[in-house]
Amino acid sequence: MTKTVNEILQSDLLLQEVELKGWVRTFRSNRFIALNDGSTLNNIQCVIDFENTSEELLKRITTGAAIHVKGTLVESQGKGQTVEIQVSEINILGDSNPEEYPIQPKKHSFEFLRENAHLRTRTNTFSAVMRVRSKLSFAVHKYFQENGFNYVHTPIITGSDAEGAGEMFKVSTFETNKAPLTEDGKIDYSKDFFGKETNLTVSGQLEVETYAMSLGKAYTFGPTFRAENSNTTRHLAEFWMIEPEVAFMDLDGNMDLAEDFIKYVLRDVLETCKEDLAFLDQRFTQEEKSKPQAERSEMSLLEKLHFVVDNNFKRVSYTEAIEILRNSKPNKKKKFQFPISEWGADLQSEHERFLVEKHFKCPVILFDYPANIKAFYMRLNEDGKTVRAMDVLFPGIGEIVGGSQREERYDVLIEKMKALDIEEEELWWYLDLRKFGTAVHSGFGLGFERLVQFTTGMGNIRDVIPFPRTPQNAEF
Ligand code: 4AD
Ligand code: MG
Repeated sequence: MTKTVNEILQSDLLLQEVELKGWVRTFRSNRFIALNDGSTLNNIQCVIDFENTSEELLKRITTGAAIHVKGTLVESQGKGQTVEIQVSEINILGDSNPEEYPIQPKKHSFEFLRENAHLRTRTNTFSAVMRVRSKLSFAVHKYFQENGFNYVHTPIITGSDAEGAGEMFKVSTFETNKAPLTEDGKIDYSKDFFGKETNLTVSGQLEVETYAMSLGKAYTFGPTFRAENSNTTRHLAEFWMIEPEVAFMDLDGNMDLAEDFIKYVLRDVLETCKEDLAFLDQRFTQEEKSKPQAERSEMSLLEKLHFVVDNNFKRVSYTEAIEILRNSKPNKKKKFQFPISEWGADLQSEHERFLVEKHFKCPVILFDYPANIKAFYMRLNEDGKTVRAMDVLFPGIGEIVGGSQREERYDVLIEKMKALDIEEEELWWYLDLRKFGTAVHSGFGLGFERLVQFTTGMGNIRDVIPFPRTPQNAEF
């Protein structure tokens, strides 16, 4: 039976016959194949008896080729590995033309590998990142399932704009330029597939609220889409979001949940992805060395992960944060691109990162933001000008979580919707929750790729999702 490299390295099969399949990473001296099958970061060395191997076969053992190997697992004579396979039989399953194969055994830039995203998981860095991504997503489900949450598959096509930011991709079966028009010349969506205007969802929150208000604890974990034209290292047009929502929970409970959840999943992968994280830790340290001293991380990747798991997140109100920012050195020296002058300003990523990286030096939860810079569904505070919002800010990332206690009072919500021109007919079902057994409830959204970025130390969000979608780019 064929085994994976990981199974072979984990088990005690010394002096036994083994059989495995994988891709050639390198082939040296017509003797030593470094074979990788993606099951682990480690290659296994397969040693060929080249005198008894035909010239023609040897030529076909090239970087990238898929091969099938049988042999005996023995203690290694050479340095760099404890065991190796003394090959008795080798078959080429799929040739790889060494002149054309893009993934050569040398350092490639991440830009180049992005253009070859279909092959980049044949490298150590990307296979490690994607194995960690997989374990992290499993840890997300474990956390919620162990804590009594129900996984809800909220729709991907929707008629509502949860965040009210208008950054939506339209879903329509009309052909461009052939869409039927109404009498006043507008596109007649009543004749479209769904009989109304629809778009790809920006968040599953509004729908998952209905499940919190019936099943008590619910969460979604699915793709979300935003047509925002942000070409940054932290924005994707298609990203995965984790959104828990809990009935009878207020904002304090929401902060506790976010902190406990993030610590749990990080602790989990520190345990389950030791090898990959150790490799990514080294990579991170190497990369930091190439940066100017002032921009270097004070901690290694593993230190950062342990730091987050072991320390309390600092909870600070928006009002306090504005005071800190207003009196900060970069603000006084006009170093911020967006200077902070008064209460009410929206915080930019430079401000968030100042608070986290320079001022508090730990993850920060900012809460009670001005109502007019946040979404319509957040609960209005007694002061009439702030809402029960919270953002979790992380070093190197900035905002990783956005959430709130929801406005559960029918009258207050309807007023707010009117003020923002949100049509009652669109959200009648959302309003129903406030008519029939309304209650305090809260939730948040965590951007999964930003979490993977933090965990793996990758600088660009495009390198932590298999096939990134960004402005001007939807290859693969
Ligand atoms: O703060 P946001 O917009 O919150 C919501 O969508 C709420 N409905 C969530 C809720 O309360 N259930 O987005 C939540 C998180 C952000 O904190 C960020 O981590 C991530 O989603 N995010 C993005 N990640 C990658 N690319 C983008 N364009 C993102 N926009 C938001
Ligand atoms: Mg947000």
